[in-house]
Amino acid sequence: MLNKKVQDALNQQLNAELYSSYEYLSMSAFFDEQNLDGMAKWMKVQSREEYEHAMKFYDYILQANGKVELNTIKEPTKSFKTPLDVFEETYQHEKNVTKMIYKLFDVALAEKDHATNIFLHWFITEQVEEEATALKIVDKLKMLADTKSGLYLIDRELGQRASR
Ligand code: FEO
Repeated sequence: MLNKKVQDALNQQLNAELYSSYEYLSMSAFFDEQNLDGMAKWMKVQSREEYEHAMKFYDYILQANGKVELNTIKEPTKSFKTPLDVFEETYQHEKNVTKMIYKLFDVALAEKDHATNIFLHWFITEQVEEEATALKIVDKLKMLADTKSGLYLIDRELGQRASR
């Protein structure tokens, strides 16, 4: 049985992952509006991946005989300026998520909840990948997005992300 502190922290992260999913869907809409189909697809895949992260928390809480509590999801960002701004925001967002996961890990450690501790290892590793991927796209956009052909190339590359 989960203790209350750990359960609350897990539910909070479940909510944060759903917010991530919502935020990336909003970014996808921004790209769709501009016919940047590749970036829009990349964001939709990312949004689905975040939903899967949320479901990992959902399943774990139930498996650990806890109670899932679904709360209000914060409104996503509705206006963006440029593709570079969007991916810079993505990078910042992922860095914040890493901090949240670390805090959650600290709660599990303090409460001596070893099972939750181990469950969170996957997320800690995942965040390294999430940050690195976003930063790589930011760097490419800085290199190439000044020209329309550069933006076209990056859009095409990001559109190759495998669907989930
Ligand atoms: Fe669920 Fe992008 O971290």
